[in-house]
Amino acid sequence: MSASETPIPMISEASGPLSGVAEVPGDKSISHRALILGALAVGETRITGLLEGQDVLDTAAAMRAFGATVTRHGPGDWTVAGVGVGGFAEPDRVIDCGNSGTGVRLIMGAMATTPIAATFTGDASLNRRPMGRVTDPLALFGARAWGRAGGRLPMTVVGAADPVPVRYALPVPSAQVKSAVLLAGLNAPGQTVVIEPEATRDHTERMLRGFGAEVTVADGPEGRVITLTGQPELRPQAVAVPRDPSSAAFPVCAALLVPGSEITVPGVSQNPTRNGLFTTLVEMGADLVFENPREEGGEPVADLRVRHSGALRGIETPAARAASMIDEFPVLAVVAACAEGSTVMRGVKELRVKESDRIDAMARGLEACGVTVEEDADTLIVHGRGAGGVPGGATVESRLDHRIAMAFLVLGLAAKAAIRVDDGGPIATSFPVFEPLMQGLGAAIRREG
Ligand code: S3P
Repeated sequence: MSASETPIPMISEASGPLSGVAEVPGDKSISHRALILGALAVGETRITGLLEGQDVLDTAAAMRAFGATVTRHGPGDWTVAGVGVGGFAEPDRVIDCGNSGTGVRLIMGAMATTPIAATFTGDASLNRRPMGRVTDPLALFGARAWGRAGGRLPMTVVGAADPVPVRYALPVPSAQVKSAVLLAGLNAPGQTVVIEPEATRDHTERMLRGFGAEVTVADGPEGRVITLTGQPELRPQAVAVPRDPSSAAFPVCAALLVPGSEITVPGVSQNPTRNGLFTTLVEMGADLVFENPREEGGEPVADLRVRHSGALRGIETPAARAASMIDEFPVLAVVAACAEGSTVMRGVKELRVKESDRIDAMARGLEACGVTVEEDADTLIVHGRGAGGVPGGATVESRLDHRIAMAFLVLGLAAKAAIRVDDGGPIATSFPVFEPLMQGLGAAIRREG
């Protein structure tokens, strides 16, 4: 697993107290969905607060290739003139989704019930990730896919000419798979049903309703049953993208670990399908206060006040909570390394198929920093060194994974010796302003060389 083309080595080291307001960028999941649903609506959708990370820019380019008119008016301020459900044109070039599993899987779903062909590729990380979890249910609609061995990209998908609606029980807890099926269901007649044994992020369901689709959610014995009525005319919307709780996690955890810190992170999602990290941190003894609860862009949000918390305790995170914090385990592992006692993270096997094998990446990186770790297929255990007890002093591989890079740069702020990350380039996929934002709070994080 090599670094990106021109690696950007970065370093972080012990900092004075962090202070100020951390205005993190827009939510990545919601940004992808706003562009895709905007492209499937008839008329002009306005998006404000769009995350301008590379993952989302790649999805914007893809929507143009499928025939939508996507225009940037200013920072985070975009419009999408959509082509309507079933209106995608056949792209005349390969769709490159870069590093983004969300981008490629949702777009495959969105085109799978339109009789066009599209070829998808990505970077070295994305081309290693499994796509069969999406192409299997899309085949039930009548779509066909040809990719590399193991269902890997590059892959060509041919959409169904006469799609049939589908009833599909998710074999893995994945919002990307759920969303691909629901987006495919838009252009199938009748009702498409997705059953998820564990709740995963529900932005697609919320946003589909906002665009005028009929979506019902019921709790049954098999789990959450989501029913979409196909072939709606989606109405363009004004989408205000709330800030990304997965990006907020980095300044929040940094402030918890650096002595004397006090920061505010405004407008962080409290969507119960996304807030597992905050619940966990409070259980560990974090001084987190949730102020001004309100609704923004159809999502519950609050302002987070975070104070340094020097006596964090290791805990066990239940498997049932894993989906609500699936992207936050790397930074939780860093907090766990600085806590007293052991933190046991259960039900985390999906981390093996993220931008990197995040269990392996965290385990090897933490070991290099002097932290003892145990792992099995579905569990990660971090034996904490207590506040100020992590030796650090290592260079860690980011493995084309933005969250691994950011997690270790946070650890460097609280370790005894500086931590280097071999390549911070991937951070731009989700949090392009990470470096200036953290520096603005007083964090000693910088590029090397
Ligand atoms: C996402 C779903 C999650 C998450 C990813 C974003 C989404 O992936 O890890 O960063 O926007 O639907 P899975 O659905 O594969 O768990």
